[in-house]
Amino acid sequence: MTADDLRNKLMTAAIQGNLALSIALANHLKLFQAIIASGSEESPASYSSIASQAGLKPRYTKELLGVLACGDIIEVTSDGEHFYIPNFNLEVLSSQIKDKGLSLCSFIPLHAGVFNEIAEVFKKDGPLGMDYSSYNGFYKTVESATPLHKKHLVPDLVPMTGMKEKLENGIEFLDVGCGSGFHICELAAHFPKTNFTGIDITPTAIENSESRKKEMDLQNVNFHERNAQSLDENWTDKFDMITIFSSFHDQCRPDLSIKEIHRVLKPGGTFAMIEIDGTSSIFEDKKTFGNFACAFYTPSVFHCLAIGSNSPDALGMGAMMGTKRGSKLLTDAGFTDLEIQKIPFFTFNVLYLAKK
Ligand SMILES: C[S@@+](CC[C@H](N)C(=O)[O-])C[C@H]1O[C@@H](n2cnc3c(N)ncnc32)[C@H](O)[C@@H]1O
Repeated sequence: MTADDLRNKLMTAAIQGNLALSIALANHLKLFQAIIASGSEESPASYSSIASQAGLKPRYTKELLGVLACGDIIEVTSDGEHFYIPNFNLEVLSSQIKDKGLSLCSFIPLHAGVFNEIAEVFKKDGPLGMDYSSYNGFYKTVESATPLHKKHLVPDLVPMTGMKEKLENGIEFLDVGCGSGFHICELAAHFPKTNFTGIDITPTAIENSESRKKEMDLQNVNFHERNAQSLDENWTDKFDMITIFSSFHDQCRPDLSIKEIHRVLKPGGTFAMIEIDGTSSIFEDKKTFGNFACAFYTPSVFHCLAIGSNSPDALGMGAMMGTKRGSKLLTDAGFTDLEIQKIPFFTFNVLYLAKK
């Protein structure tokens, strides 16, 4: 790469970074829906009618529409006052199942919000890491992935684990790091004969999960505030199936929690874990995923690594833990027949499957 190539790359990064932040704001303010509701490609809407539709101030709305139009996300008419989304792009910007890029943009404000704190964490004498409570709106942002997971969880992911029939017949099920309880409640609604237990370390996660359980009127789910590093003594050999959805690399001591998971899994039971794909080598990640890897190293810098480094004995895995380090943790904990599969419908994720 020449110096000019690098200059161009830096400029492109600056432009795209600014655009991504504005896309996140537009998405948050439901501006794309407002553009669609107030006009069309055939009859573009004025910025003031878009603002009125979204319940926003016209002047601010015009500026944000300006970013989106100059960034080629939406179109502007020659008078500079009317805007539209081309018909062929309506679905990308308004689908219930968020486009992956749009969803990644939504995390940028969450990360930017802790910019100064993270800078302190980096310093030699700075804090060890960060706590979940420092991230305003963390669970709400994570929720943005739920429509995609809702579409595939029961019809596609459960069959990949080979546990569909057992779940239908009724088993004991544990979800570790259940967050706001989306996966477990969704499964509980589909498999009423199975008993579901969800644990999470944060009180907010458990509160959110309890509200979801109540809203869905579920009788076969229980939630507990627990650190996965030390599960209940009387749970040894209790669960037929244990899952982790994107909650492993964030843990300070995933080595201890996976040993606990192995202990509380029944002999012959199934452990299924969804994690970010990665090779465990920055060099190989660059070769394999190219620039896409930035979309996961950055969340790691601003969130996952700091969360998973927040104790003196933490392993600090980071979001790009990768399958090499991930599988070592599992085999060290006693899982022998580990299999790792790509998940066609969750790009960038892999499924770890193991039996005790
Ligand atoms: C990225 S969120 C994923 C939540 C949920 N599984 C989902 O997919 O929506 C990670 C979750 O792991 C939880 N967590 C992190 N460390 C934990 C630990 N040691 N024990 C239990 N839960 C933990 C966090 O509180 C957080 O709710």
